[in-house]
Amino acid sequence: MSKAPAHAVDFATWTAQVQQQIESALAAVLPAASRAPARLHDAMRYACLDGGKRVRPLLVLAAAGVAGADVRASEQAACAIELIHAYSLVHDDMPCMDDDSLRRGKPTVHVEFDEATALLVGDALQSLAFELVSAPGLLPDARVQLELVHTLASAAGSRGMAGGQAIDLAAVGQTLTLPELEMMHIHKTGALIRASVRMGALCGPSSPDLLERLDRYARAIGLAFQVVDDVLDTVAPTATLGKTAGKDAEANKPTYVSLLGLSRARELAESLRADALSAMHPLGPPANRLVELANFIVNRQF
Ligand code: IPE
Ligand code: IPE
Ligand code: MG
Ligand code: MG
Ligand code: MG
Repeated sequence: MSKAPAHAVDFATWTAQVQQQIESALAAVLPAASRAPARLHDAMRYACLDGGKRVRPLLVLAAAGVAGADVRASEQAACAIELIHAYSLVHDDMPCMDDDSLRRGKPTVHVEFDEATALLVGDALQSLAFELVSAPGLLPDARVQLELVHTLASAAGSRGMAGGQAIDLAAVGQTLTLPELEMMHIHKTGALIRASVRMGALCGPSSPDLLERLDRYARAIGLAFQVVDDVLDTVAPTATLGKTAGKDAEANKPTYVSLLGLSRARELAESLRADALSAMHPLGPPANRLVELANFIVNRQF
């Protein structure tokens, strides 16, 4: 039986430690709010700091652990993916997209600041993410570092997250088929989750076999993440979510809940969790954090 090493801290302690580590690392890489242009820098910090579950950084560091990766490189990769994620949330909430006024328990960036600032926050966070992963000498092998940058770029772009967001907007008011809905979710949310795992693994010596196995895990939990997000939008209260509940139905968005109903959506999340865990099983204890994260992603209440 796989068992965590005796010295390992429990999952709750580990997540709290990583969340603190990422909070400090992001606070250090984001320009000071006092630095010109102060309003933009203030808004960038507002969008990224003091909130969020940091699931993508947790995945980067857990995969990095499996690969025996360099700590500094994996921390920078974790910050980069979180910056892209935070940018995607700022734009996702804008009036031209989901038009949300609450995010991470605070007013959204365009509400707290203004729309033009929200747009620029997204642009600037995206650039900062690429500054981090392209920093000269971050990884000892420049070709592997280039692959790291490439992984992030393709996951964020029109064949990844941004493309998924375009599909999402075009789908408002439509009834999608199951494969169409899956395509949308795999792109808008799955792509960055998948990139998180791959980037963590690339920070260490990973064989093609290990990358492929981790990718099987990441594809399953990437889709599961958005299935659960759809479920929570229906069942969880705004106070717990830190974002307005019930928005999908209100905006007439096709979701796993609207297509399958709550209980079949939950069953799908469970079966994706099982797929993720079976991909990790042969790796034994080194993959324990990834197993725990798969469980967290499916069981979470927020
Ligand atoms: C919300 O992501 C947007 C989706 C991709 C579903 P998270 O649920 O990871 O949001 P934070 O980072 O914890 O706020
Ligand atoms: C957002 O999906 C996906 C991205 C931000 C790329 P949602 O629109 O469902 O996310 P929430 O529910 O607003 O967090
Ligand atoms: Mg959206
Ligand atoms: Mg949204
Ligand atoms: Mg949602």
